[in-house]
Amino acid sequence: MDYDIADLGLAETGHRRIEWAGRRMNVLAAIRDRFEKERPLEGITVGACMHVTSETANLMLALRAGGAEVALCASNPLSTQDDVAAALVDGGIPVFAVRGESAETFYEHIHSVIDAGPDIVFDDGADMTTVLHKERGDAPIIGGLEETTTGVIRLRAMAADGVLRYPVVAVNDSATKHLFDNRHGTGQSSLDGILRAANILFAGRTVVVAGYGDCGWGIAERAKGLGANVVVMEVDPIRAVSAAMNGHRVRDGRAAAREGDVFITATGNIHVFREEHFAEMKDGSILANAGHFDVELDLGALDRMAVSRRRLRESLEEYTLPDGRRLLVVAEGRLVNLGAAEGHPADVMDMSFANQALAAEWIVDSGDDLEPAVHVLPADLDREVARLKLEAMGGGLEVLTDEQERYLASWQDGT
Ligand code: NAI
Repeated sequence: MDYDIADLGLAETGHRRIEWAGRRMNVLAAIRDRFEKERPLEGITVGACMHVTSETANLMLALRAGGAEVALCASNPLSTQDDVAAALVDGGIPVFAVRGESAETFYEHIHSVIDAGPDIVFDDGADMTTVLHKERGDAPIIGGLEETTTGVIRLRAMAADGVLRYPVVAVNDSATKHLFDNRHGTGQSSLDGILRAANILFAGRTVVVAGYGDCGWGIAERAKGLGANVVVMEVDPIRAVSAAMNGHRVRDGRAAAREGDVFITATGNIHVFREEHFAEMKDGSILANAGHFDVELDLGALDRMAVSRRRLRESLEEYTLPDGRRLLVVAEGRLVNLGAAEGHPADVMDMSFANQALAAEWIVDSGDDLEPAVHVLPADLDREVARLKLEAMGGGLEVLTDEQERYLASWQDGT
């Protein structure tokens, strides 16, 4: 079996880590049990470009239980858990991912997975999809799945340009993905990353959150819960008002730069904090990015402005400016929750990856019925994921009476 990982000797630790995550992924476990009996993915090869974490490992095992052959590479050079990669290889799944790999190796690994001959592509950020469209147009793909907001934006741009050559399911757009993973997962784990990198107290500090979408909402709420004063920076007036009514101060970039102690980007956009903001920030400000790509902080500009730069702690780099102010960057401006912590907890990835597994089955079942376009998973599957999660959490669902069903379907009766 062909593979490229850091150290196969780490497999034992990886197996334990996968087991621990699996215990909190009840919905995925239920799907895996059904897959084992029904084998809906028999004869299918899955090529996955995803964060190589213990939660992803559980998804790969569920797909294999459904009959699929699986090959996996990383969707970010800094997010691979090397022990998990080793455990998967030990279990017979080819993995091409080494934490800290260069950009060149990252793309070589994507090609290695494409060489495995995937029918369905699981992507997180659309890097593999882009390679499949720009360089490997001959690969016979029947469908793709996309995990994150940034990837969905790229896919919609491809569809608008008329170049998308197979159907793709925007898993991110399932309610049971973005309303939970992006909000609760990114919210908690981004702060976890900053805590592990810098071990600061959030209480009393001013945390600037750039972007008040699902991720920004989660980060702002969790920071507030830890006692921070939250400042939100937004370009969309509706989201900005929503932040204001949730009790956060809303400021433009320059004002936010002057007020903040900790800055976290979650926009999916480029150069959100740049020279004009670095020029205003206080000594000791901490900068982190939770968005998919490492472009939200203009670190090129910061590097040009700095007179010196040193690594202060494992995931914390200090840039000293000519006037003596020091700005600290977490995890090289890459996804802070995966670069400096372990990503989202399994409890929430459970729903995201249940959607992934069901979406793969849906693509196979749909055959040629799906157009080469960006699709959203049918609402009944989304609701089924939520129902199973609620059940696993010990919650009970109220059921509409016949009278209530009739009432909701009628328009004649008013007061
Ligand atoms: P979203 O589209 O719901 O929210 C993004 C927000 O940023 C929007 O409200 C937009 O108006 C705002 N924005 C855009 N440019 C801005 C600027 N220059 N200044 C201030 N605000 C700006 O997107 P979502 O789902 O919150 O995702 C954000 C990013 O996080 C994406 O790159 C996504 O792929 C990534 N992501 C990261 C995860 C992680 O594990 N760290 C998990 C899920 C998503």
